[in-house]
Amino acid sequence: MTAEWVHQSVLLNEVVEAFPFGGERKLLIDGTLGNGGHSAALLRKYPGLHILGIDRDKDALSRAAETLAFAGDRVTLVHGNFSGLAGKLQEYGAEKADGILLDIGVSSPQLDDPSRGFSWRADGPLDMRMDRTSPENASRLLNRASEADLAEIFREYGELRSARKLAAAVVETRQKKPFATTLDLVELCDRVLGKSRPGTLPMPTLVFQALRIAVNDELGELRQALQAAVDVLSPGGRLAVISFHSLEDRIVKRFFKEEAASCVCPPGLPVCVCGKESTLKIITPHALTATDEERSANKRSACAKLRVAEKKEVHFNDTNQRRHP
Ligand SMILES: C[S@@+](CC[C@H](N)C(=O)[O-])C[C@H]1O[C@@H](n2cnc3c(N)ncnc32)[C@H](O)[C@@H]1O
Repeated sequence: MTAEWVHQSVLLNEVVEAFPFGGERKLLIDGTLGNGGHSAALLRKYPGLHILGIDRDKDALSRAAETLAFAGDRVTLVHGNFSGLAGKLQEYGAEKADGILLDIGVSSPQLDDPSRGFSWRADGPLDMRMDRTSPENASRLLNRASEADLAEIFREYGELRSARKLAAAVVETRQKKPFATTLDLVELCDRVLGKSRPGTLPMPTLVFQALRIAVNDELGELRQALQAAVDVLSPGGRLAVISFHSLEDRIVKRFFKEEAASCVCPPGLPVCVCGKESTLKIITPHALTATDEERSANKRSACAKLRVAEKKEVHFNDTNQRRHP
């Protein structure tokens, strides 16, 4: 295995335990195949398991094809976004899945390859697309977006206090010379934002994170995929999501809570008028995190959070019959 291949799957044991499949035939959608590390462990543990593996990065699919070759026709690989998992499942020829795994974010091979432009620590083209067939990349976004949109991106996705100042500087700088490389952006960050306070993330990390989330519509993808997952899971099927920063984890936590709620009527009504059914049972009341041992072996695991929920049997009820307790 060459260096650019290395991606240590985070929370590997926890993910395998999240799907208690046994030996029967089951179907899992791995929406973020990456190098195929989680899928490989699941296929080894569960002999009846079949996997529909999705990734928006064609390089990742090639790596996963090698990692998962041992499983033969138990694996089907498709290029695309996990927000479209319902359509991919239909093309695969199934209506329901018994499990869905989303290990969101970028992989180490993506981060460590300067030609992908994800890291501010190496010079390269300012690209940041997970899917290199998609039209929008980071330099195009920086060179064309309005000042207001840029400020919103830096504030919302990078949680940067100086978002407006940075957006104004981007607009001023690009009039002289358009942004083309990661170094162009790092120089701007150093000039406008200065040094970060001790104990906080370096400023370019936050700026790069913000742009990456925008270029890949990462939060929109997540929201759509969560809803699609609930729609296509069979009763008893599980959804496991690993996130790496609070913006994503907040979305997952809220979604699980909303789907687990069985009634959203205002307080005081004697009978239920909303008809809301609980669709998910939360399996992890608190997110699972990496052990100290995993953290010291793999720094990336330090901010990983795993949340798991199980699809419930849903019976559409007659709202007039359901009395509040
Ligand atoms: C953290 S890595 C997954 C690693 C994998 N679980 C393993 O064990 O090797 C995330 C992968 O998800 C892919 N990805 C991220 N967002 C995606 C999306 N919206 N649709 C499809 N793939 C996505 C990335 O291209 C990357 O390869």
